[in-house]
Amino acid sequence: MSGRTPPPRFTAAPYLASKSPSAGVVRLDTNEGSTPDPALLRRLAEADVQVIRAYPSTRRLEQLLAERLGVAPDQVVVTNGADVALDRACRAWLAPGRELLVAEPTFEMFYRFAEMTGATLVGVPWVDRFPLDGLLSRVTPSTGVIAIVSPNNPTGLVCSGSELRRIAEAAPHSVVLLDHVYVEYADEDLTALALKLPNVIVVRTLSKAWGLAGCRVGYAVADPAATAVIRSAGDPFPVAGPSLFLAEARVSAGAGALVHHVGQVRRERDDLLQRFGAWACPCPPSQGNFVFPLVGPEAAGIRSALAAEGLLVRHFADRPGLAEHLRITLPGNQATYDRLAQALERLLGRIGGTP
Ligand SMILES: Cc1ncc(COP(=O)(O)O)c(C=O)c1O
Repeated sequence: MSGRTPPPRFTAAPYLASKSPSAGVVRLDTNEGSTPDPALLRRLAEADVQVIRAYPSTRRLEQLLAERLGVAPDQVVVTNGADVALDRACRAWLAPGRELLVAEPTFEMFYRFAEMTGATLVGVPWVDRFPLDGLLSRVTPSTGVIAIVSPNNPTGLVCSGSELRRIAEAAPHSVVLLDHVYVEYADEDLTALALKLPNVIVVRTLSKAWGLAGCRVGYAVADPAATAVIRSAGDPFPVAGPSLFLAEARVSAGAGALVHHVGQVRRERDDLLQRFGAWACPCPPSQGNFVFPLVGPEAAGIRSALAAEGLLVRHFADRPGLAEHLRITLPGNQATYDRLAQALERLLGRIGGTP
């Protein structure tokens, strides 16, 4: 790079998931969801060639998603994954001198969004109960965005409807971004309530329970004035035609397969939470498709031992306060779950949990 090139605005982050797993290896480190019926993919072969020739329109998918949620189509904006909906909102409502308020630990992209927009990240600890008072005490006239990830990544903890309302009403000058990408696994869907609050934007995805992370389809749902801003904060053709074709087919087919998948994940989650209790590893009561046990100082070794058995789980070595935890995606598949439970039993039963 020449000496005149200005330095980048934000620090480079390593790419996650840079390698495809080899045969027999199961990725339980990326919180992907159900596996769609392969027949879905075969439908692409019958698609009209315009799916690849023409610039793709998100309108039909927005209509389908709006019908599912019982809202008007102009209240839904489809983006290139939920990540991009969050990014657009942060770019629209944050700038140098403004604050992004989060409850920590949380989804790591928010640190990048703060850095890229030049905003100041203000973090409030979220250990068990949702930190309503802590967040309210940090709202200032400079708060541009309050990000609430519920179920939260990596803990799986949730915010209640009344807590969401209190925050939205206490900060009418801010946008409350409700990251609801794991909501299908949770007990309560806050979307309908959120839509009654004019400053809340709900961000959802087809990457998790719907099983289409490879298609990169997320969406924001909000008051039409807010969706108009999100729409104009990005490019007009955000998702590739084949991805939209597959997403439309998946959503039109209904949520039957999704309900089955969510039921399996919940059974695995209940069972694993009980096991972590028996192994003396504290584990938050997750409502996502993952659990976040405190396994102790041997966390990196346990991660490596699981990897040696072909089970990849997430260890946050570089994140302050998280290095003794693992985040384990629930496979949603009985055979894989049994393999995981047996491997953990061998490792954590032997170690006897945290000191
Ligand atoms: C909390 C949270 N928000 C957003 C995303 C991004 O989802 P998408 O695949 O739709 O971009 C993820 C992905 O893991 C996530 O955990």
